[in-house]
Amino acid sequence: MAVRELIDKLNCEKKLSHEEWVKLIKEYDESDRAYAAELARCISQEIFGRDIYIRGIVEFSNICKNDCLYCGIRRSNGNVSRYRLTAEEILQCCDEGYGYGFRTFVLQSGEDAFYDREMLCGIVSEIKKRHPDCAVTLSLGEKSREDYEAFFKAGADRYLLRHETADEEHYKKLHPAEMSWKNRMECLSDLKEIGYQTGCGMMIGSPYQTVECLAEDMEFMCGFKPEMIGIGPFLPHKDTPFRSCPQGSYELTLFLLSICRIMLPDVLLPATTALGTIDPKGREQGVLSGANVIMPNLSPVAVRKKYMLYDNKICTGDESAQCRACLERRMESIGYKIKISRGDHR
Ligand code: 5AD
Ligand code: FES
Repeated sequence: MAVRELIDKLNCEKKLSHEEWVKLIKEYDESDRAYAAELARCISQEIFGRDIYIRGIVEFSNICKNDCLYCGIRRSNGNVSRYRLTAEEILQCCDEGYGYGFRTFVLQSGEDAFYDREMLCGIVSEIKKRHPDCAVTLSLGEKSREDYEAFFKAGADRYLLRHETADEEHYKKLHPAEMSWKNRMECLSDLKEIGYQTGCGMMIGSPYQTVECLAEDMEFMCGFKPEMIGIGPFLPHKDTPFRSCPQGSYELTLFLLSICRIMLPDVLLPATTALGTIDPKGREQGVLSGANVIMPNLSPVAVRKKYMLYDNKICTGDESAQCRACLERRMESIGYKIKISRGDHR
């Protein structure tokens, strides 16, 4: 079957065999990518119109007990100036964001045990109390099932935990021995079972990633049916063991965004900051390839440069208000409009 027929088949049947996934990813060319983008854009417009959902991210701590080989805030990076926001500072970011029209707040951090269950529940419930019309998304890494249940009870609606790779052997090459692929996968199924709108995802072009790995990622997501998918290119960070590894492919990232949209039509799919970093028009192109979410930063400018997962991250010098206005313009330039709403999965 030609690549185009595989794209059509995926569109009809919403799944492919392993061999078909491999062929699709290995053999697509620029015209196939344009074909997939157009189809994905049509699907996205049918469901969401030309509305783009925005989520304000508060990166509240860059302290992390983990040592992922790709990540700039890994614990062995001694060049990071570490910070923690107080509960009140986090709440202030959300209050400010509310004024700019954000109706989803994403609380993201390294795996930092300083924020215990009680403290996190307190922050979540206070955000919901101040802004009952808003959704709270957590992105705090691997926690116990009891923690996830407590956050959910406190009012958290969604949880982002990229699976990073569906291939256990590949996972071991990206993470130190003490980190477990099985545990990560268990976290994801716990989150779904508890009732979160759950997001998974992977980097495109991470070191040692093969076409087989990506095929497994697609097959995993096809079965897991996440409500959200975060994918962006791998970008090296100068203070990590992967500093000399090549960055991921911009085109392949766009192609796989389209393929995700075709496979899971109503998935919430951000055009990520990494996509905006690899190319100045990356987020616009992401939207034109089927993405429907943008996640600008709401963190205080004073800490933004300290939350560097990869080199050259965009928007680290801009105030939240500037980012908000900039995104409005960017989306309008391609005929889309930012929507002021929670933007839940339907
Ligand atoms: N390049 C691109 N993405 C990265 N992430 C972490 N480090 C990098 C990097 N060097 C992604 C991971 C993580 C998410 C928060 O950011 O996939 O889950
Ligand atoms: Fe931050 Fe454009 S989105 S400056």
